[in-house]
Amino acid sequence: MKGIILAGGLGTRLHPLTKVTNKHLLPVFDKPMIFYPIETLVKAGINDILIVTGGNNAGDFLRLLGNGKDFGLEHINYTYQEGEGGIAEALGLAEYFAAGDSICVMLGDNIIEKNIIKAVKSFREQQGGAKILLKEVRDPQRFGVPVLEGDKVIRIEEKPESPGSSYAVTGIYMYDSRVFEIIKSLKPSDRGELEITDVNNAYIETGELTWDVLEGWWTDAGTFESLIGATNLVHETGANNL
Ligand code: G1P
Repeated sequence: MKGIILAGGLGTRLHPLTKVTNKHLLPVFDKPMIFYPIETLVKAGINDILIVTGGNNAGDFLRLLGNGKDFGLEHINYTYQEGEGGIAEALGLAEYFAAGDSICVMLGDNIIEKNIIKAVKSFREQQGGAKILLKEVRDPQRFGVPVLEGDKVIRIEEKPESPGSSYAVTGIYMYDSRVFEIIKSLKPSDRGELEITDVNNAYIETGELTWDVLEGWWTDAGTFESLIGATNLVHETGANNL
């Protein structure tokens, strides 16, 4: 399985912090944000990693991460997303890198307390399809939200006004190689982006999406509130604990 970290975007919700740098290079407690998802993947045994960046200061990722020595890696792959086409468009750029393998995708501003070792193992055992990780949150309307019937996810709604459950779809996704065909069939949403939620809904329609609940805390760090929240959580417990 290969790993893909999506670290593009203009980070407009964090202006002016992101006017002259990329959101994923900002500090979360004692490390740049992008360190956390890289560690999450490496600790789950995923060593072949692509970083999709974009917007400002893309070159700084190279200076910061180099070939990944700090993470015990020999090499990191990079690619560049032009414009603001959305998470699924950014993922589409990884098709060459994936080269037919299954992938574990992580949004570059997602940070977790524990690890995804169990989920990765169970996806490896699953016959293709997709897996998402859910987490109960206080403010589901900020996220992709699963509508549950019993223990089945019947659809996912992106930032719904009246959420169908109290879970958020975290920014950690596992897909088989069909994901790239699905992305090519997507139409832009009302905000003009290719949505990762539409990718997940396509797997729900074919009955191929499984889900787990993530253990430990989970946070994004793309708003002022969540950025300071993430810093406090990492300060208190550390992240990516085994
Ligand atoms: C994105 C996804 C959303 C998901 C969230 C997790 O939202 O669109 O479905 O729940 O990441 O961090 P964004 O942070 O881009 O608003």
